[in-house]
Amino acid sequence: MTDQNHAFDVVIIGSGAAGLTAALNLAPSHRVAVLAKGALSEGSTAHAQGGIAAVLEPGDTFDAHVEDTMIAGAGLNNRATVEYVVENAPAAIERLAALGVPFNPGESERWHLTREGGHSHRRIVHVDDATGWAVQQALEDAARDHPNITLVPDMVAIDLATGRHGQRYSGEGHVWGVYALNRRNGRVELFTGRATILATGGAGRAYLYSTAPRGATGDGIAMAWRAGARVSNMEFMQFHPTCLYNLEVKNFLITEAVRGEGGHLKIPTTGHRFMPDFDPRAELAPRDIVARAIDHEIKRLGLDYVHLDISHMPADFVREHFPNIYTKLIGLGIDITTQPIPVVPAQHYTCGGVVVDLKGRTDLPGLYAAGEVTQSGLHGANRLASNSLLECLVFGEAAAGHIMRHWDDLPAPPPIRPWDESRVSDSDEEVIVQHNWREIRRFMWDYVGIVRTTKRLERAHHRIRLLRREVEEYYGNFRVTPDLIELRNLVDVAELIIRSALRRKESRGLHYTLDYPDTLIDAQDTILVP
Ligand code: FAD
Ligand code: SIN
Repeated sequence: MTDQNHAFDVVIIGSGAAGLTAALNLAPSHRVAVLAKGALSEGSTAHAQGGIAAVLEPGDTFDAHVEDTMIAGAGLNNRATVEYVVENAPAAIERLAALGVPFNPGESERWHLTREGGHSHRRIVHVDDATGWAVQQALEDAARDHPNITLVPDMVAIDLATGRHGQRYSGEGHVWGVYALNRRNGRVELFTGRATILATGGAGRAYLYSTAPRGATGDGIAMAWRAGARVSNMEFMQFHPTCLYNLEVKNFLITEAVRGEGGHLKIPTTGHRFMPDFDPRAELAPRDIVARAIDHEIKRLGLDYVHLDISHMPADFVREHFPNIYTKLIGLGIDITTQPIPVVPAQHYTCGGVVVDLKGRTDLPGLYAAGEVTQSGLHGANRLASNSLLECLVFGEAAAGHIMRHWDDLPAPPPIRPWDESRVSDSDEEVIVQHNWREIRRFMWDYVGIVRTTKRLERAHHRIRLLRREVEEYYGNFRVTPDLIELRNLVDVAELIIRSALRRKESRGLHYTLDYPDTLIDAQDTILVP
């Protein structure tokens, strides 16, 4: 091995809840590398606010959690997956508690459970309103302490290393690891293993407004697709109803728990509480319904935002439940104990992704995936609040378990072709990357957003095909940079979203089109095959 070739037992791409959970499960017996494209805590996990859903109090049942998940998912969920995740949730929470995650204690129960839209019970464990940060730190600390885990920040995965790199094929090529760009020295390095786990998170940054962090560019979905794995349900992009509207601070989420604890959505000009006009569950309807209602009111009345108001609750209660949001907004001149919060919907979660089974296996031998990068069957057409971190914890463990149980069946990697840079040079036109990135995010927002039409989708399809040609030509001629890698992935992912949306001739869950407003009786996944 040279210093550009790194051999491990298992290569994990992604250091969020899914990747670190898999790593910690494998580490007692296997040597693992965990790659992150920037700092270890830069994924969505660290930004999660509300918490993690699990059946933890006597009045609640697995059946109720399963039903709530299926209802939110508009019947497209795979019931076996939903049951598997829901039943494994309490144990996953226990493991986090054992790692030191300081979930808020309850008054009579062990933990305080909050409530979010679409849940028929209080069932969300949380650490104030910054649950993800606590989870990320606990997982990272445990991983850092483990001698079998090598954490590799600043390593941008480019493409999966397969037996037939550069060619297209479906479901047959073994994956042996990944080529990645080392940000610190600009070199492309190779990480190999008998198994590779994609845990790269979602693709929110395909949209102009998103609560997701800068790196959510769908890299894992695009890499798996290029390597030949099926991708499914990409039209189901979740828009969170309440992202802070602020001209300076963009992408700051106001957790759904604010509505769960009594917050009301109001028209700023009249103070009218409008959600009861749209759904009997009012502010606690599933978030596709709430986001569409806000979008409708904003467009109907020509507003920039609506108000989320929790100022009618006691000030101490608000400060105690939402200390981070309170402090952040005080800094922006909004006292949420006395004033409403201006909010707009923004892209929040990628329900579709790489197709996996209950063991986290993809179509490609040696390639597993866990977390937001996947389409496991859990979320269906719309993810239920706080089911996502849960999916990362359950599938991170499932993938690790399958690899360990089948270790002897996994062949050792053969010699892998080194990265070839002989025919490229340094770019002198970085502006193309920046321009195309902005253009994709703008037209995805305008044409492939909360409410769709076939005409707008076709326009978007036309634009993305033009951009693809430009980006492919650029990629073929110039040395890779982190921005170029992300742009290439965004083009792939945006096209997958548009193609999936064009295929669905109905409105279901998060996919709402004026041309097909009805929901078909038969619920079918949209599966794209490379
Ligand atoms: P992430 O945590 O996003 O991690 C992705 C990792 O992959 C990162 O380490 C990144 O560096 C790495 N990576 C990506 N591309 C590459 C590449 N090319 N090369 C190398 N590494 C790469 N869910 C809930 O259940 N409850 C909540 O309360 C909640 N709140 C949320 C609040 C916000 C603001 C957001 C954005 C999301 C929230 N979600 C919540 C969703 C949830 O946080 C995410 O779905 C979940 O954390 C995803 O975890 P993950 O491990 O799949 O990926
Ligand atoms: C939130 O806190 O509103 C986000 C919860 C989630 O995305 O599951």
